[in-house]
Amino acid sequence: MSSNKETPIKTIGFVFVVCLVCALLVSFSAVQLKPLQTANKLLDKQTKILEASNLLDFATKPGNDIVATYNRFVEAKMIDLDTGEFIEGLSKQEIDMFDERRNSRDMSKSDKPENDLAGINRRSHDAVIYLVRNGGGEIETVVLPIVGSGLWDLMYGYVGLEADLNTIKSVIYSDHKETPGLGAEVLNPNWKALWPGKKIYNDAGEVKAKLVKGGAKANDIHGVDALSGATLTSDGVTKTLQFWFGEEGYSPFINKNRGGLK
Ligand SMILES: Cc1cc2nc3c(=O)[nH]c(=O)nc-3n(C[C@H](O)[C@H](O)[C@H](O)COP(=O)(O)O)c2cc1C
Repeated sequence: MSSNKETPIKTIGFVFVVCLVCALLVSFSAVQLKPLQTANKLLDKQTKILEASNLLDFATKPGNDIVATYNRFVEAKMIDLDTGEFIEGLSKQEIDMFDERRNSRDMSKSDKPENDLAGINRRSHDAVIYLVRNGGGEIETVVLPIVGSGLWDLMYGYVGLEADLNTIKSVIYSDHKETPGLGAEVLNPNWKALWPGKKIYNDAGEVKAKLVKGGAKANDIHGVDALSGATLTSDGVTKTLQFWFGEEGYSPFINKNRGGLK
């Protein structure tokens, strides 16, 4: 009689060993790749912030790079959204590792907005914003993160403002689940090019920046064309701007610093 005869025990043993090896491989690669994923996430964020401050072309010229350009010109600062005050005394690492998504799931670090225009459900108490200086050390751009509902899910992005904290330099989305060709046209360079020079607030301090279905008029200083065939995403972007530049967003910070940030 052959000793190689298959038995249920042998088969189950073999399956168990294969599963164990695969599980070990998956856990090993997850642990090994974690630092790389964190670094890539940070690099992606830095790239978007440079894009929002019109520094991406400079950063990608031969001889330059994203991280060096970011470190040279960008200062990340944490603010308390309710008071609009800077939170001082934090390390660079604490600020770099700030995660709005994690905070807004944490009951002790977030609140339900009173008027949840952006459909975010909870808003982190704090936010990290980015002061971008020119070679002479003056602030040229202030980049403010935004998040709000699109059609399918939350859409994350940044608004770059000039130092007057009212004139828009850029609206850059970084993470969304909208449909290519429809809502995902927020990434279209032609649409992004409509924003520079538009004003968030009118003279009375009301948030007026918006997307206009059917096309904004040439002399509209607040509006840009809505995304065609994507009214729901467009309305989401308008409401996101209304929320984040309103009382429950950056308006306490902006009102405090309208005279000029140092
Ligand atoms: C498969 C599919 C994907 C869609 N994706 C989007 C989208 O990303 N954003 C959006 O606003 N509307 C999207 N729509 C269309 C909406 O359902 C709705 O018709 C549209 O927002 C109306 O915009 P309009 O008035 O500009 O045509 C999608 C529709 C379908 C069938």
